[in-house]
Amino acid sequence: MKKKILLMGRSGSGKTSMRALVFSAYRAADTDRLGQTLDVEHSHVRFLGNLVLNLWDCGGQQSYMDNYLDSQRHQVFSAVGVLIYVFDLVGEDSEEWDKDVRSYKECLSALQDNSPDAHVFCLLHKMDLVDASRRRSVYASRVEELRRKSEGTQINCFATSIWDETIYKAWSKIIHTLIPNVTDLERRLDYFARANGAKEVVIFERTTFLVISKSTERSNDLSKSEQERQIEMKMEEEGYPPADSTATVAIDESGLYPGRFGKISQLIKGLRLACSKLQSQFQAIEMRTNAFSAYLDILTPNTYIMVITADPKIELSAIKLNTQLVRDHFE
Ligand code: GTP
Repeated sequence: MKKKILLMGRSGSGKTSMRALVFSAYRAADTDRLGQTLDVEHSHVRFLGNLVLNLWDCGGQQSYMDNYLDSQRHQVFSAVGVLIYVFDLVGEDSEEWDKDVRSYKECLSALQDNSPDAHVFCLLHKMDLVDASRRRSVYASRVEELRRKSEGTQINCFATSIWDETIYKAWSKIIHTLIPNVTDLERRLDYFARANGAKEVVIFERTTFLVISKSTERSNDLSKSEQERQIEMKMEEEGYPPADSTATVAIDESGLYPGRFGKISQLIKGLRLACSKLQSQFQAIEMRTNAFSAYLDILTPNTYIMVITADPKIELSAIKLNTQLVRDHFE
């Protein structure tokens, strides 16, 4: 199954950088060396065995943008599964922003004509360059404007930066819309989590470490007021940047930090890069603290599984054995 993903936005907004970070073994610091994309750079990424992501990284220079919207209009905008439009927040210059929004609207209109069922994601990128105390208000006003100008098209927005976990969170959500039979997978994972008394079980794609599916136990011991928690959860769901360090940290229904999945993707990819420098291959992790135990291992040829337990009576060796026994069911 092939899914076409259009990656668009003005030149220098960070499209190739995020692609290199998520799909290749790039570190954020290495993206400085990437040159401008000439016209469209196509890549095919095999994802979960039979899903092929057909990524169109569309160079953002004005002459290319004019071509996409004119002579190449049908070729570029037809049969699209997902449009990802990357907005550069550098300097928050309002003239550049207005120009970006105009370009975005033109792309949206071409998409509606040629692929009316495509999902649309807007990434408010380079959020690290906005002062931490202002990130949420800048994000809220930009998203409000984008929703208004998208004229009825349902859009999903995320604050992103290649320097933190937000890029993995956004891409996990994007990929999630393309995975077939994802509810069936979630059902099987819920069953596995319950059978193992796990607090949380997560499946990651093996190369990108994007989250494919997760099952989380609800906690009865939430330390925040329910109303406060619901507000934080809604913000998390709507792609807001994490609260700055002076604010109270959000928790979700498990009583844990909701940005943890992206953080794990980021950390494991960093670890894997470090391992490859030592010419060794990262395989599995076991971790025990006085509050929880964690086990991360290969599940299928295309996925990793992570199991978290908070019950000291549950042996990791039992979870390991169960993981081996269910591998065939997740193929
Ligand atoms: P074209 O190929 O010309 O369309 O540009 P592009 O959108 O592919 O931009 P590219 O990925 O080449 O990134 C341009 C610059 O932005 C690089 O120097 C990156 O290091 C930098 N960059 C990308 N993402 C981020 C980010 O999240 N934060 C910051 N501070 N810089 C970023």
